[in-house]
Amino acid sequence: MKKESWGSRMGLILAMAGNAVGLGNFLRFPVQAVQNGGGAFILPYLICFLLMGIPLLFTEWSIGRFGGKLGNHSTPYILDSINKKWYWKYVGVFGIFTNIAVVAYYTYIESWTFVYVVHSVIGTFTGMSKEAVSLFFDQYVQFSGSDFGIPLFPVLAYVAVLGVNMYILSTGLGGIEKVAKIGMPLLILFGVILAIRGWTMGNSFASEEFPDANAWDGINFLWTPQYTSLADPKVWLAAAGQIFFTLSVGMGSIQCYASYLKENEDIALNSVTAGFTNEFVEVILGSAIVIPIAAGFLGLDWVLQNAGFGMAFQTMPYLFQQWGPLIGAFAGICWFGLLFFAGITSSLAMGTPWMGFMKDEFGWGKVKGAVSFGLIGLTMGLPTVLFYQYGYFDEYDYWGGTVSLVIFAFLETILFTYIFGMKKGWAEINRGADIRIPGIYKWIMTYVTPVLLFLVLMGALITPAGNDWVGAISKLVSGEGWGLDPNSLIAKLNFVDLKAKLVANPENAEFIKKKMLFSGWARIQLGALFLLICGIVWYSSQLRKKASL
Ligand code: ALA
Repeated sequence: MKKESWGSRMGLILAMAGNAVGLGNFLRFPVQAVQNGGGAFILPYLICFLLMGIPLLFTEWSIGRFGGKLGNHSTPYILDSINKKWYWKYVGVFGIFTNIAVVAYYTYIESWTFVYVVHSVIGTFTGMSKEAVSLFFDQYVQFSGSDFGIPLFPVLAYVAVLGVNMYILSTGLGGIEKVAKIGMPLLILFGVILAIRGWTMGNSFASEEFPDANAWDGINFLWTPQYTSLADPKVWLAAAGQIFFTLSVGMGSIQCYASYLKENEDIALNSVTAGFTNEFVEVILGSAIVIPIAAGFLGLDWVLQNAGFGMAFQTMPYLFQQWGPLIGAFAGICWFGLLFFAGITSSLAMGTPWMGFMKDEFGWGKVKGAVSFGLIGLTMGLPTVLFYQYGYFDEYDYWGGTVSLVIFAFLETILFTYIFGMKKGWAEINRGADIRIPGIYKWIMTYVTPVLLFLVLMGALITPAGNDWVGAISKLVSGEGWGLDPNSLIAKLNFVDLKAKLVANPENAEFIKKKMLFSGWARIQLGALFLLICGIVWYSSQLRKKASL
């Protein structure tokens, strides 16, 4: 049987770039940048890209192509191709688990973007006040609005978008390539149109309420480097987290896509091209839309106080209307359309590791693979939709979309660099290469990337109180122990953050207790998913053993 592979180099690069370019570029990046001091964030972010992002791209593309050559298209057996110790295939479970955990809530956001495109087209936001637009979103996620008069409409929209993903996945790599070829150019076009608006609006939309509003304040805030942040671990942790999420490294999807490369197909140039395309979209376009446009209408101070994920949905439709109903509708279609395409090209990538695994191990065809993926995604995702306000969604994002990525990236780096060995690894990266990778990268991958990954992991695990590392270390030295921050991984495990909120806001006790309960359920569900995949991997290993007897 002919091996499945990418149809063209352009298709491969666009699919890989589409995998990376996602909601993270337009929603997560600007918020992270603002919350971490704007220009203070950019330098650590770019350094993390060069010292962790690019090395991880090389690693994941290489191990993917290596495993694919041996007929393995999913991380459990891709890692097993590199080293036969029994536990590596269970480390590889992360590469399926993360994708299902993320797709569960990611497609929910995708469904918002789709619904908002429709509302932009039919003019729902025309004439709405700022408060009304914000309330519209709150009611949507709490199911208290009356969207098109259909009860539980957000659930239906979610299921429909998941269904679209399932359908495209069932058409295989060819379908994914097609969507990337249409979606990527369109999203870049929409992004450029909105970015030009962001760059050119200046102070021409300052209102009586916000007379000092100026889009350039937003741009300058993001682009004036502040060197003091280089000594702040909090900013480094946020920058590293953003690099993981945006490049989709540590997820398992790049390895899966790369496993469909031909044996001597270039890795060096393709991986760097996909990575830099993502960075162009994130740093140039992602920074030119939400923040400058919001600053141009509401002023930088407002943006600094209100920056958050909801900004894209709670304020943008209102701001667009200030340009008049027609341009407002057009801007809304561009913005939410861009988000939709960014989202779907990433969520499709998240489906492929599961499908690749089920095909390799159990001979499941594309339709069976896609439908089963959709059903698991739905089982995992439905509670994030129903219990959104009780933190189900956030738990998935934290454990599935943040922590897992760093753990997996660290372990696969150790495997590639020290167990497979950098000498062989370097030869693997350079086989068929269309460019010469600077030799310094061999050194960076051996000594710098693993150390940085370890530091990021430890930093997240034991973040000190108030993120004050210098103070914490001096306290430790003087024997006062290490006070954990409520946002550190260890404290989060124990719900320290929610317990503190309970003490501080007794009037909200009922809600916070509910949040604790649902967050606990979310963790149990994630844990069950991980164990289920371990079980399937174990079963497949028994089948493989039998077959080799
Ligand atoms: N890399 C994808 C994003 O940025 C997951 O959204």
